[in-house]
Amino acid sequence: MDKNTPDQPVRGVSAEAQEPDADTQVSLDLPDDALIIIPVRNLVLFPQMVVPVGIGRESSIKAAQDAARAGRQVGIVLQRDAETEEPLGIDLLRVGTLASILRYVTTPDGSHHLICQGEQRFVVKEYLPDHPYLVARVQLFEEPEQTSSEIEARMLQLKTRTSEILRLLPQAPAELANTAAAINSPAVLADFVSGLMDIKPSEKQDILETFDLLPRLDKVLGFLVHFAEVLRISRDIDQQTKERFEDRQREVLLREQLKTIQNELGEAEGNAAEIAEIEAAIVKAEMPEEVEKTARKELRRLQNMPDASAEYSSLRTYLDWLTELPWNVETEERIDIAQAREILDADHYGLEKIKRRILEYLAVRKLNPHGRSPILCFVGPPGVGKTSLGQSVAKATGRKFTRLGLGGVHDEAEIRGHRRTYIGALPGNIIQAVHKAGARNCVMMLDEVDKLGRGSAQGDPAAALLEVLDPEQNAAFRDNYLAVPFDLSKVLFITTANVLDTIPGPLRDRMEIIQLLGYTETEKMQIAQRYLVQRQLEANGLTKEQCELTDEALRAIIHSYTREAGVRNLEREIGSVFRHVAMQVAEGKVQHVRVEQADLHAILGTEKHESELAMRTSLAGVATGLAWTPVGGDILFIEASRSPGSGRLILTGQLGDVMKESAQAALTLLKSKAAKLQISSELFDKHDIHVHVPAGAIPKDGPSAGVAMFVALASLLTDRPVRYDHAMTGEISLRGLVLPVGGIKEKVLAALQAGIRTVLLPARNEKDLEDIPEEARTQLRFVFLENVEQALDVVLEEAAVQAEG
Ligand SMILES: Nc1ncnc2c1ncn2[C@@H]1O[C@H](COP(=O)(O)OP(=O)(O)OP(=O)(O)O)[C@@H](O)[C@H]1O
Ligand SMILES: [Mg+2]
Repeated sequence: MDKNTPDQPVRGVSAEAQEPDADTQVSLDLPDDALIIIPVRNLVLFPQMVVPVGIGRESSIKAAQDAARAGRQVGIVLQRDAETEEPLGIDLLRVGTLASILRYVTTPDGSHHLICQGEQRFVVKEYLPDHPYLVARVQLFEEPEQTSSEIEARMLQLKTRTSEILRLLPQAPAELANTAAAINSPAVLADFVSGLMDIKPSEKQDILETFDLLPRLDKVLGFLVHFAEVLRISRDIDQQTKERFEDRQREVLLREQLKTIQNELGEAEGNAAEIAEIEAAIVKAEMPEEVEKTARKELRRLQNMPDASAEYSSLRTYLDWLTELPWNVETEERIDIAQAREILDADHYGLEKIKRRILEYLAVRKLNPHGRSPILCFVGPPGVGKTSLGQSVAKATGRKFTRLGLGGVHDEAEIRGHRRTYIGALPGNIIQAVHKAGARNCVMMLDEVDKLGRGSAQGDPAAALLEVLDPEQNAAFRDNYLAVPFDLSKVLFITTANVLDTIPGPLRDRMEIIQLLGYTETEKMQIAQRYLVQRQLEANGLTKEQCELTDEALRAIIHSYTREAGVRNLEREIGSVFRHVAMQVAEGKVQHVRVEQADLHAILGTEKHESELAMRTSLAGVATGLAWTPVGGDILFIEASRSPGSGRLILTGQLGDVMKESAQAALTLLKSKAAKLQISSELFDKHDIHVHVPAGAIPKDGPSAGVAMFVALASLLTDRPVRYDHAMTGEISLRGLVLPVGGIKEKVLAALQAGIRTVLLPARNEKDLEDIPEEARTQLRFVFLENVEQALDVVLEEAAVQAEG
């Protein structure tokens, strides 16, 4: 290391590095041992370091320029306080660094820099007055040449640490490391390292002022260790931030790999297990090719979906639907007509014509399994066995049975499902029913086609149903939810309805109508004794030994507690009786209960249906008609009365238009026959006639009350009462002919049940008598009418009641 004295000329200052007049050596008016001092705010120059020193103050610029011109070295000294603007000697620290000026640089922005090379430490002895800048006498510090094992050890430490730090410093040029490695003086190395370290000026100054080598090395080492630590930590932080940034992508990647690996190893769990399960289900479902393709595509989508998402679970549900449908599941079809006959007989009493029709249907299917068989439609009042017949058909053909109600369905989506984009979407009820049946050749009973809602903004359910039933189209029935075709062509459809006329026309055209009529009391007795009693005993946990229901009691239930065409309420009432008995048996009060007719009042309450007929006596102006309703037949009273007026006809009782017209026609007809019936025409002119039909529950429309209307009016105006046990039905023409009407069996049965003895029917309905059970035929007298006058002869009593009384 050179040990220059302040008065020695500056070495190594190249000419071109000087300011314009630099090559002109000027001598300064300074003592030889005096040194121009450049105060610096935050820089500590170590010996051996080359650093640019920015100079801004006028005095410093002059000092630097003078020194450069004179080719003299300068002293770089740190200010005590960086903020001091024009520092005096006392504002500066005592220890500074002798520096050679390598260059004086003025940058384009007008700032001045000295490129200085540190040479040697000094201590300021005194500042000299009367100079335009700071000039001081200084004492240069000679580095001692001493060495010791302790110094050697620290030197070694210093070198290792230094090379370590240089490795940690991201942009440290390779020369630095080489330079450091080449230094073999501890003092030089310490200064070199101190200059490089990013520590505070005050800390650097502290090192500069430590003249003793050993403590100086310790300090440098201390800083170095700390600095290395800081570097390492900051590098770690750097690394961590970078890692965190990449973590998320990495996680996605890893999860993917994990799934694949788990799949490969067959030790899949959670989602992967689920996927594998669905995959297996797809294979097992034996779907048509197109459907399988869709299923696999959706499965792939599922695989790449986070399993907590809502979409995942809805897609999962969809795949469950796809895989669980009976794409290729069929029960073996076996039609043995003899056996089918047995099954139908075992389940149903009577219904001969219907059973025969069903067997014919099955026979055709047996002979031509792939032919188009019509869709059966069972039409009839509630509780007559439509549904249970459908179940028997399933049993007889070895098919699964499933039913779905169409009553009140007014949205096409209920039949065809909602698209999957719809929240909470599911397949329509056709696909649901097939799913429930679990076989694609099931018997599907579509109940209440007559109550199917009309087309609306939500689409026409009847149109959707047509597609379901149409053999041309239903091989590729498309449910909106499934969005793939399902083959419905193997399904055996049976529909049911209470009435025919509300079934949408195009639907009705496709169906083979089978009418079920109401049962007579005797038939009901048989059904109850053979089926219902046993079934209700079982349902209530009773045995024949524990409970006995006498025939009289059963008949009373049929007669006085139910009024229906079918046997549904009958079964319910029998159930009520048995529940009552079950209570007693369960309480341990009795072992055996015999229910007699007299007990019914206590169990079922008062009789629900008294014979209305019994409450009436023969009166002039009241005739008994017969009505047909969707729930069976009923009797209907037509009441006529007159009051002084101007010949108006008043109709009350919520009559339909056709029935009103029928009343008009009856009156007109009666007027035309007034003379023959000995009715004075004055009666018509001076009176208003009021026709009323009580019993609000029965729908009153249709022309079939024509005869009864005519009879009621004739009775009123002739004052001849109508026999109370006679009932009639028939349409009338204006010429007085009696025209045929429908619902004869129900009407006749209702009449029988109501206690009627004689029934007047249109002559042209005589053929319908063959439908009427033997029992009814023997108990009733039938009178067939060609024209209305014949009715009057039969039903009107000879003398008026008033006349008698
Ligand atoms: N002829 C019969 N023999 C034996 N049981 C019968 C007969 N007719 C009806 N039943 C029984 O009566 C009950 C009602 O019959 P079902 O449910 O089939 O009536 P439904 O015609 O379908 O009525 P709804 O129109 O109300 O659906 C069933 O328990 C059924 O087994
Ligand atoms: Mg039913």
